Amino acid sequence: MGELPEHVAVNREYWDGMAHEWVEAGERSWNQTEPTWGSWGIPEGELHLLPDDMSGLRAIELGCGTGYVSAWMARRGAQVTGIDNSAEQLRTAERLAQQHGVALELIHGNAEAVPKPDESFDFAISEYGAAIWADPYRWIPEAHRLLRPGGTLVFLGNHHLVGVCSPVDGSFPITRGFQRPYFGDHRFDWRDAADDPGGIEFSLTYSAWIRLFRTTGFEVVDLAEIQAPADATGVRSGIEADWARDFPSEHVWTVRKIG
Ligand SMILES: C[S@@+](CC[C@H](N)C(=O)[O-])C[C@H]1O[C@@H](n2cnc3c(N)ncnc32)[C@H](O)[C@@H]1O
Repeated sequence: MGELPEHVAVNREYWDGMAHEWVEAGERSWNQTEPTWGSWGIPEGELHLLPDDMSGLRAIELGCGTGYVSAWMARRGAQVTGIDNSAEQLRTAERLAQQHGVALELIHGNAEAVPKPDESFDFAISEYGAAIWADPYRWIPEAHRLLRPGGTLVFLGNHHLVGVCSPVDGSFPITRGFQRPYFGDHRFDWRDAADDPGGIEFSLTYSAWIRLFRTTGFEVVDLAEIQAPADATGVRSGIEADWARDFPSEHVWTVRKIG
C-alpha cells in the first residue's frame, strides 16, 4: 500500500484512538433484529435502506466500523465484505462476527481504494463511514468501480446544513444561524474543535453531489432528508433534537450505477 492521503492517515489515528468508545454501541446494534439508522435511530421500516431479501447479493460496507450494518445484510442473505480504515474498529467487528456466528469478509483499508476487482458487488452501503470520512471525489468513483452496472449505492451522513450551522471553532451545539458559507471548501477539519475534537470530514453542496453522481455514472434514485422523530430528546453529536425536528440533520442518498 502506498502512502495514505493526509485525511486517511489522520482519521485512522483518530478512529483507532476512539474505537473503545464504540464497542458498547456496536454490541447493541449487533443484537438488533430490526435495523435502525443514523443519530435518531429511524427504523428500517420507515427508511427502507436495505432490500428485504439480499439472498445471493454481493454487498460491501464502506467504513464498516464495528460491522453491524454488515451483519444486518448478512442476516438478509448477502455475502458481505466490510472495509474499514481502523484496525481497532475491525477488532470489535471480528469479535462480534465470531460471537454471533455471522460470516463477514473484513478488510483493513481505505474505502477510496478498495483491493477488489471492478464490478465485484451488487450493493454498497455506508452509514457514517466513507459517507462522511472519505473524500467524495475519491470514494464515489471507487464505489462506482466496485459495483456492477445496475448496482446500488446507499449512504447516510450529515446534511450539508450541519456544517453550515456549526460554529467555526467547533463548539457545540450547532446553531439556527449560518456560521459559514454554504459554498466553499468541502473538507471540514475538526482536529482543533473546541468541543469533542475529531478528524477530517467531508460534505458537499447538493448541486455538487448531483454533479458528482452524474459525472461518475450514477443516476439518483432517491434523496431522503431525515427529520428527528417527535419524541426525540437530547443532543446527538452537538445537534439538539429540536434543531433536527426543524431542519434536516442527516441525508440518505440512493444512487444506481448506469449501464
Ligand atoms: C461512525 S463509524 C461508521 C460505522 C457505523 N455505521 C457507525 O455509525 O458507528 C465510522 C467508521 O468509518 C471509518 N473510516 C473513516 N475513514 C475511512 C476510510 N477512508 N475508509 C474506510 N473506513 C473509514 C472509521 O475507521 C470508522 O470505523
